[in-house]
Amino acid sequence: MKITSVLPFALGALVCVSLSSSARAADAGAPAQAPTAPAATDAKKIDWENMTEAAKKKYMKTTVLPEMKKAFQAYDAKTYKKFNCATCHGDGATDGKFKMPNPKLPKLPQPTDRAGFMALQQKKPDAVKFMGTVVKPKVAELLGLPEWSPQNTNGFGCYQCHTQEASK
Ligand code: HEC
Ligand code: HEC
Repeated sequence: MKITSVLPFALGALVCVSLSSSARAADAGAPAQAPTAPAATDAKKIDWENMTEAAKKKYMKTTVLPEMKKAFQAYDAKTYKKFNCATCHGDGATDGKFKMPNPKLPKLPQPTDRAGFMALQQKKPDAVKFMGTVVKPKVAELLGLPEWSPQNTNGFGCYQCHTQEASK
């Protein structure tokens, strides 16, 4: 995907807020959808928040991992030659808890740290663009969660995976 300016995204990331699952659950449940039989290929039909731990694990393994492996390897085949649960979950993949966000991922500036996001954007433009235009929307879609946007600040965003830097 090509975008001419990443500034809107950087500004968007600014107000990304880390939210509890319950806040998102309420939000995700808001649009009344007719209960149709879920099509195996339609990720939007999954009810992530209410799935059992075992079902989540299975879905991660059969859908999220392979899809995101493709995306990360298309972005940087060499760095992400090895891509597994631990790439996202870190120690959560070995302790079996899979708790997110993962403190081993690079820490991101605080949501209100505009200068911090601008600096990150300048330092790692490709990574920030890949994260904002591929990883965030793709994982949100796979989990059937609304994506973070200025209109929906309860959505799935950066801080569902990354932790925040200590405040300055
Ligand atoms: C692309 C990144 C990514 C990869 C790869 C990934 N996961 Fe996840 N996983 C997530 C995110 C993000 C969440 C949290 C979603 C949310 O906000 O509820 C999650 C949540 C989970 C949960 C639920 C944890 C909880 O506290 O309820 C389990 C279990 C899980 N993942 C297992 C796995 C397994 C097993 C693998 C490897 C087969 C895997 N994941 C690979 C991103 C990833
Ligand atoms: C689904 C989980 C997930 C989400 C959502 C996510 N990231 Fe990441 N991010 C990762 C993973 C996995 C890596 C790779 C870490 C590694 O290379 O070991 C990463 C790496 C990065 C890096 C470092 C890249 C490098 O080359 O050093 C930056 C910067 C980053 N993410 C920013 C963001 C921003 C900004 C957002 C929100 C727009 C975001 N991420 C959303 C999982 C996520």
